[in-house]
Amino acid sequence: MSNTPAKTNRALDAAVLEVEATYVAANPKSHAAWQQALKAMPGGNTRTVLHFDPFPATMARGAGAYLEDIDGHRYVDFLGEYSAGLYGHSNDAIRAAVHAALDDGIVLGGPNTYEVKLAELIKQRFPSVEQLRFCNSGTEANIMALSLARVHTKRDAVMVFDAGYHGGVLTFSYGGSPLNLPFPYVVAPYNEIEKTLALIEQNAARLAAVIVEPMMGGGGCIPATRAFLQALRQATEKHGIVLVFDEVMTSRLSFGGLQGRHGIRPDMTSFGKYIGGGLTFGAFGGREEILAPLDPRKPGALSHSGTYNNNVLTMAAGYAGLSKVLTKEAVEGLNSRGEALQKRLAETAAKAGVPLQVTGVGSLFCLHFQSQPIVKPADSVSDPQARKLVQLGLINRGVYMARRGYVAMSLEIGDKEMRAFCDALEDLLSEHRGALIAADQKAAAE
Ligand SMILES: Cc1ncc(COP(=O)(O)O)c(C=O)c1O
Repeated sequence: MSNTPAKTNRALDAAVLEVEATYVAANPKSHAAWQQALKAMPGGNTRTVLHFDPFPATMARGAGAYLEDIDGHRYVDFLGEYSAGLYGHSNDAIRAAVHAALDDGIVLGGPNTYEVKLAELIKQRFPSVEQLRFCNSGTEANIMALSLARVHTKRDAVMVFDAGYHGGVLTFSYGGSPLNLPFPYVVAPYNEIEKTLALIEQNAARLAAVIVEPMMGGGGCIPATRAFLQALRQATEKHGIVLVFDEVMTSRLSFGGLQGRHGIRPDMTSFGKYIGGGLTFGAFGGREEILAPLDPRKPGALSHSGTYNNNVLTMAAGYAGLSKVLTKEAVEGLNSRGEALQKRLAETAAKAGVPLQVTGVGSLFCLHFQSQPIVKPADSVSDPQARKLVQLGLINRGVYMARRGYVAMSLEIGDKEMRAFCDALEDLLSEHRGALIAADQKAAAE
């Protein structure tokens, strides 16, 4: 990036310095905690997505829709633990289930009474899931879904999408990662039907799977068009390629996930996050014949063992969540509140005359400080300094949100909390309007 005066937004840089100074001054205990963590963990961090500069606030506790950090600030939690925190911090049914499970012992070394009940509820919500297995994370779920697809098809390659995210070893933003699993990948452009279909045709004989997020989450909450997903369904069916929907994030966006909303039946689906009630969780499932090699009664069965695959606390919390809390009405209510908040935030920015695109579906969305519309990942061009200004500026005003503008609402977020978000944004925009307008103009010119 050139640094000529014309392309430098001095107002933005000055505004960022100002909000950063406020943040640093207000968070001495978090700063000290981070300094201590630096000695034990690279960057003081054990989960990359939680790092932001100058240093992240260390959280002390959460209750309902609120978080409190170790410096004593209270935040409305709009990060929602990157969508795993759908139930909020202190849901009664989840707490009761965890306590009951704790009382009965948590390392039983056998099948427990919860796992089949949770499996049945997942099957009911997602009819494409004929059989499933549990694991410990969304990453593991994707690894297993892709590995089973390779066994099933006896092919080796996997189609992924540019800017997609399926876990730390399956990440395809910025050209991929050297940590990625060594599968042969074919990287296709998201939401671009013709180019993707051409790549499928060219590589059909070696493609075991196409894995897609029905809404790109980490890539900026960019929903796939129904036409794009339908085109993937048709092309994979034609060539016997396993279509994997990564619904680790999106399964909460309607009662039957985005597959239900679009009426498209993938061969395999991966799950994670909130389904474990806020505890460590992953699951993969789909067509019975693809999962059949895992049946341990069969000669030559494939082993999929994981000490904590059926960990009692997760199974109990997950079952309580789906059976007692996340009814169809609750899912619909949460996502319609999300649609309303998206609209109100966009209106707040429009009223302030600041360019803002809100992308996403229902209760999962992303704020992009730019006027250019966003249909595919490459369209997201918000200035990183603008993102920093908004995130730290909101944190300073008691609203906790991810640096990249990502918002995941919990069931605990009500009208009061939504109003708090809009008020904080309005205040921030009135203070930094000029800097954000200039940032948009600079990004558009590049
Ligand atoms: C779409 C998607 N797939 C997979 C994962 C990985 O899940 P986990 O962090 O549980 O390994 C994530 C996590 O953010 C995700 O958003």
